[in-house]
Amino acid sequence: MGLYLITGGAGFIGSHLADALLARGDAVRVLDDLSTGRRENLPPAASLIVGDVADPAAVRAAMAGVDGCFHLAAIASVARAAEDWLGTNRANLVGTIAVLDAARGARTPVVYASSAAVYGDCPVQPIAETAPTAPRSAYGADKLACELHAAVATEVFGVPTVGLRFFNVFGPRQSPGSPYSGVISIFAGRLRRGEAVDVFGDGGQTRDFVYVADVVAALLGAMTRRPAGHRVFNVCTGHATSVRALAETIASLSGQALQARTHPPRPGDIRHSVGLPVAAREALGLAPPTPLRDGLADVLAWLAQGE
Ligand SMILES: NC(=O)c1ccc[n+]([C@@H]2O[C@H](COP(=O)([O-])OP(=O)(O)OC[C@H]3O[C@@H](n4cnc5c(N)ncnc54)[C@H](O)[C@@H]3O)[C@@H](O)[C@H]2O)c1
Repeated sequence: MGLYLITGGAGFIGSHLADALLARGDAVRVLDDLSTGRRENLPPAASLIVGDVADPAAVRAAMAGVDGCFHLAAIASVARAAEDWLGTNRANLVGTIAVLDAARGARTPVVYASSAAVYGDCPVQPIAETAPTAPRSAYGADKLACELHAAVATEVFGVPTVGLRFFNVFGPRQSPGSPYSGVISIFAGRLRRGEAVDVFGDGGQTRDFVYVADVVAALLGAMTRRPAGHRVFNVCTGHATSVRALAETIASLSGQALQARTHPPRPGDIRHSVGLPVAAREALGLAPPTPLRDGLADVLAWLAQGE
């Protein structure tokens, strides 16, 4: 049994990770400023420190005595990063450096959340880890900088690190405001009420929707297997799902006919984003991903509970 720190543990992905660690008998400490996370997301057995990940003293105190750190705290929003460039940089990059610095003394392993946003609008699909990185947002630029600092932490300071480039994670507890897969919660809410959904452009834009349980498996696999050197892996399914196909699947699971209102394409929207999951599957020992339909059924069941 180990003790693990989860920064951002009161958020969507972090709280699922907390559940999984506790279920296998580990102890969990969470550092979260509750800016988007919620205390109610956390199981009672997890201890919560309310604090800022960019505050070095708070991070050092939270890191004391842990066997590993899952660093997920971030302002996970391209739009917020565009509005408050410096503020999001502090949480997303300075926060990561604070975590890596606190891990230095005891060489505490750090598994951290990067993002498919590091690839920008990649011309070659599906995207392998070897594809060029060309972020098109301050958020993606910060995530790429996190990877560079993690490489320094490993190669210069001997801190074991693994970066996970999450694609579009979805599942229960995700806020409809999420820029990644909030569309799923929004579509599900509308379609279950028999209302029309909004589709931008022709609905042919594709995303790689990865279920949160599979992301948790990747986080745990990265901490357990810890491949040598600083490595980054895509966390994705390899399946492209168009926005229209997504709406159709949710409509069919909800027993409703799909009604869609179409709007002009949103400026700057990336057309396709699909990852190649092979390297992560091999290095982290991952099972085949949860089928989209099964994950969506779980989201619908969770939404129904909240009514
Ligand atoms: N959800 C996705 O599809 C996705 C995709 C790519 C990357 N990511 C990354 O995964 C991680 C988790 O994302 P999520 O979807 O669970 O988002 P989330 O907003 O639910 O979780 C982030 C958590 O970090 C906390 N936080 C934010 N700023 C903080 C600060 N300064 N100090 C302490 N805590 C702070 C929030 O309160 C929240 O609990 C983030 O690093 C995000 O960038 C998510």
